[in-house]
Amino acid sequence: MFLHIPDVLTPQEVAEFREALGPDAPWVDGARSAGGQAVHHKNNLQLSQGSAQSAKLQALVRAALQRNALFFSAALPRRTFNPLFNKYGDGANHYGDHVDSAVMHSRADSCWVRSDLSCTLFLTPPDDYEGGELLIAEGMGDKRIKLPAGDMVLYPSSTVHQVTPVTRGHRISSFFWVESMVRGLEQRKLLFDMDMALLRLRQRVGETDPSVIALSGTYHNLLRMWADV
Ligand code: NI
Repeated sequence: MFLHIPDVLTPQEVAEFREALGPDAPWVDGARSAGGQAVHHKNNLQLSQGSAQSAKLQALVRAALQRNALFFSAALPRRTFNPLFNKYGDGANHYGDHVDSAVMHSRADSCWVRSDLSCTLFLTPPDDYEGGELLIAEGMGDKRIKLPAGDMVLYPSSTVHQVTPVTRGHRISSFFWVESMVRGLEQRKLLFDMDMALLRLRQRVGETDPSVIALSGTYHNLLRMWADV
């Protein structure tokens, strides 16, 4: 499941992030954090995790996720990896085909997170750079993703993906992984579809319609059957 979530950050927040992630921010070589196969073709910059900027921006991303109902419904998050920040451009400009590690240690909260979903939160307006697309290999062909600043994409961590070379300007984004309460992609997708359909039904017939109440019960009973918390 690929999901585009618009307006995760307000324009003011995007401006705040871009201010904090200027050229003077504590950027370090991104290859230092790559494991296994990835280290050979990861060429980007990453915000130093131990820095004060990182802690402040991580909290802002987490707060934005907390208030986003669409993110909750799609991801059903159990644990979220501490958000990281990267920069492509100025000679450090791509990240070749790779698969994200299955389990990773989230330093800020000192816990292990299984990567069910990968998330990229775009922070640079698409017109400000050339290239820099998130390219995800899919059975039916490749998906190329480049979103407005403040928007986020969610995709299965099991996919092979890359960031294509940035040939003009630079691209800054936040990225992180989510361990879902519902491990299986198919179950999670069914719950999401049902939740979205229920949302539309509630708007049409109201909260107290007996069918809405019954179907809401079914949603929660399925979630109860499949969720690990
Ligand atoms: Ni990746």
